[in-house]
Amino acid sequence: MSQTGIHEDSAANDPFEQFRIWWDDAQARSGMNEPTGMSLATADAEGRPSNRIVLLKYWDRRGFTFFTNYNSRKGRELLENPWASLLFWWDKLRRQIRVQGPVEKLPEQESDAYFASRPRGSQIGAWASQQSRPLDSRDTLSQRVAELEKEFGDGPITRPLHWGGFRVVPHEIEFWDDGAHRLHDRIVYRRQGQQWLTERLYP
Ligand SMILES: Cc1cc2nc3c(=O)[nH]c(=O)nc-3n(C[C@H](O)[C@H](O)[C@H](O)COP(=O)(O)O)c2cc1C
Repeated sequence: MSQTGIHEDSAANDPFEQFRIWWDDAQARSGMNEPTGMSLATADAEGRPSNRIVLLKYWDRRGFTFFTNYNSRKGRELLENPWASLLFWWDKLRRQIRVQGPVEKLPEQESDAYFASRPRGSQIGAWASQQSRPLDSRDTLSQRVAELEKEFGDGPITRPLHWGGFRVVPHEIEFWDDGAHRLHDRIVYRRQGQQWLTERLYP
């Protein structure tokens, strides 16, 4: 069992408070290269699922925000079927969190602000990559990057419209904590209007 298990008497009443405790712990002592990484599951209009790792860039009571290419597979799926499931697994802490809910495209100004904060190389990369489309060779991509570097010179790089953020608005957040003999602790918070209902689940 991990050091601070999750129990009815110790779990926070508010899922964001509980998330904050585990999130801070993961950033401090997960021992991972990318403790902000999460699996993002989407589904196409026919309900066929796919998932991949993305980085959680920030979160607050409005939801969980990541950035990507809107024309990528995930981007297209989220635009046609705006629901997602996020999954964190911090191996050393033996903890898993699942977040599910509808997804909103970030307002343009919010994506602009985040794009402006990125290193220049990543900004060029966002212009250069037609994420999830076929690429004939690595050279084609390198040439495109070189062209863009020349085009932009030392000038400012604006955000490409095909790149920006999505926010997953949680309807349900489940915390899983490893227990002895596979008797794990699972606490799920479900949004009910302005409130959150808490329930323990069988492991
Ligand atoms: C550790 C890690 C972090 C990643 N972070 C992001 C990210 O924040 N945004 C993103 O679009 N892709 C990210 N990727 C790449 C995605 O996993 C994926 O390959 C890419 O977005 C294309 O996915 P899609 O074709 O399903 O849309 C990351 C991959 C790894 C392994």
